[in-house]
Amino acid sequence: MGRKVTKAIFPVAGLGTRFLPATKSIPKEILSLVDKPLIQYAIDEARAAGIKEFIFVTSRGKGALEDYFDHAHELESNLKKAGKDKLLDILRQTNMDSGAIAYIRQHKALGLGHAVWCARRLLSDDEPFAVVLTDDVIQGEPPCLQQMIEAYGETGGSMVATMEVPSDKVSAYGVLDVAEDMGAIVRAKGMVEKPKAGTQPSNLAVIGRYILAPTVMRNLNKLKQGAGGEIQLTDAIAEEIEEGRDVFGLRFRGQRFDCGSKAGFLQATVAFGLERDELKDEFSEYLHQVMAMRKAAE
Ligand code: UTP
Repeated sequence: MGRKVTKAIFPVAGLGTRFLPATKSIPKEILSLVDKPLIQYAIDEARAAGIKEFIFVTSRGKGALEDYFDHAHELESNLKKAGKDKLLDILRQTNMDSGAIAYIRQHKALGLGHAVWCARRLLSDDEPFAVVLTDDVIQGEPPCLQQMIEAYGETGGSMVATMEVPSDKVSAYGVLDVAEDMGAIVRAKGMVEKPKAGTQPSNLAVIGRYILAPTVMRNLNKLKQGAGGEIQLTDAIAEEIEEGRDVFGLRFRGQRFDCGSKAGFLQATVAFGLERDELKDEFSEYLHQVMAMRKAAE
C-alpha cells in the first residue's frame, strides 16, 4: 500500500548539552558504544531497511561527522599492506557511496520539526521519507526501521515507533492518543508532545523512528512553535490526524536505549559490551565482581 521509502533524514544538529564537556568538541553522534559511533548504528539500521539516500541535518561543530563517512585511503592502504583484512572490512562499512549522502545545515537549533524541515528540498513533493534519531539505539531483529517499513507497506499513512513507558516518565516524550489498538499496530487519533504529568492520553511514547507522508513536510512549512517554544515534529504529525490522514504507531520488537541520556548510554554500553564474543567473558566477570563488592559494602 505505502510507496517505497528510500530516503532517511538524520537530524544531528542538536547541541548535545547533556554530554558536556565531551560534546564541546565532539559531536554526540560520534560517541561510541564499545567501538562503534552512535551514527554508525543508525546508518546500519537504515541500510538494512533499504534506505539508499542519507540526509544529515547538521550544525556548527559537526565536521567530525562529515569526515567520519569519508574514505580513509591512507589508513585503508596501511591496513591492507599489514594484511589486517578484518579491520579493513570494519572500516569499509563506514564508507558511503558517492552521492548517497547529503549534508544540510540547520543554522539555529529551533527544534526537531525545524531540523526535518531543513531537508525539504532534498525530497520530492510526493515522497514518503524516514526520520532516524541517532540518540535512540535499538537492538532488534529485524532492525526496528525494517519492522516499520514492513508494517507501513500494509498500512500506508505515517508511522511512528512506539513503546509503553511508566507514567512518571511519559512527560518526556511525544505520546499517542489511541483510536484503535490492533496489537502490534495502533491507529492514533491524536499525538501530544511532552504532556503535563497526569494529562497523558496513554503511556505509548513515540521514540526516534518515523516514516512520514510527504504532507508532514507541508505541515512543517507553517513553522508553528509548540512545546518548549520549539518547532515540534510531533505537532506536524498530529496535524495529519486532524486533517483526516492516517497515523499509526508500531510497537516494535526490541530493546531501545536512550543514548541521549547518560544513564541510557551507560546501559547500552553494558548491553553491547556483553554481546561481543571477544569481550563478554571478561566483561561479565568484571560486572559480577563490581556488584558483589557493592553488595558487601552495603
Ligand atoms: P534532543 O532533544 O536530544 O537535543 O534532540 P540535543 O541538543 O541533541 O541534546 P541535549 O538535550 O542538549 O543533550 C533530539 C534529536 O533532535 C536533533 C538532535 O540532534 C537529536 O538527534 N535536533 C534537535 C536537531 O537536529 N535540531 C534541533 O533544533 C533540535
